[in-house]
Amino acid sequence: MLVNMSDILKDAMQKKYAVAQFNINNLEWTRFILEEVDKLKVPVILGVSEGAAKYMGGYKTVANMVENLIEYLGVSVPVVLHLDHGSSFDVCKQAIDSGFTSVMIDASKYSIDENIKITKTVVKYAKENNVSTEAEVGYLKNNLDTTNTEVMYANLDECIKFCKETNIDALAPALGSAHGPYIGQPNLNFELMKDISEKCNVPLVLHGGSGISDELIKKSLNYGICKLNINTELQQAWANCVRKFLDEDKNVYDPRKIIKSGENSIKEIIDYKINILGTQSI
Ligand code: 13P
Repeated sequence: MLVNMSDILKDAMQKKYAVAQFNINNLEWTRFILEEVDKLKVPVILGVSEGAAKYMGGYKTVANMVENLIEYLGVSVPVVLHLDHGSSFDVCKQAIDSGFTSVMIDASKYSIDENIKITKTVVKYAKENNVSTEAEVGYLKNNLDTTNTEVMYANLDECIKFCKETNIDALAPALGSAHGPYIGQPNLNFELMKDISEKCNVPLVLHGGSGISDELIKKSLNYGICKLNINTELQQAWANCVRKFLDEDKNVYDPRKIIKSGENSIKEIIDYKINILGTQSI
């Protein structure tokens, strides 16, 4: 069943667990995720970046693919189809008009006032269409080297102002995490996390979930994190398996066999992360 994420995240916030956002890259990826979460009987958020949407043939293709897979596989858990890091109102509108049930507007590169202005327009359109919204305050880096890189953290007062004025369903503040592989462990600011969660009273999202230790993830559940985004870790595990499979069998040529050779690695990570996040069925 395709749903928006507002009720799911409210439940997570109340009971202090988190729901995973796994990003999808193709049909097989989507199928592996749906099969596994349905087996585990937990809700899931399928994240689609602008690049991934383009790769898969546009928002309509993605929405139709997800809807039809849910029906074909008989998936009974709540599934959120979520635009990841939408860069403008127009992109969010395209996703909403195509059947996405949730969008992230990422206007974090602008000033806080501009970010608020853009986010408000998206929230208005999203609410009219029963679509949930996520937005980012502060800036998240890529491929963070925690040994020598200055991390930028979100500003608490900006987060409070932002949530009050925009009425978003979930906030992704910069808390010390980053997209892509880390060198070292990220320096998550738990005090800031707790303050933002308490003062904004909104479910928090931690981006860059790949490579964060189980201990840090578990701790963050007590400080307001209700959604964890994971992409790189699934990609790396899948790529390692496929590489090994191709190395071991020089004659294989069927793409179905090649892509499927990474299936178990993806499913194992999904299982593992959902257990760490304590995700509950809803
Ligand atoms: P990773 O690729 O680091 O897991 O980050 C995913 C993410 O935050 C998507 O928005």
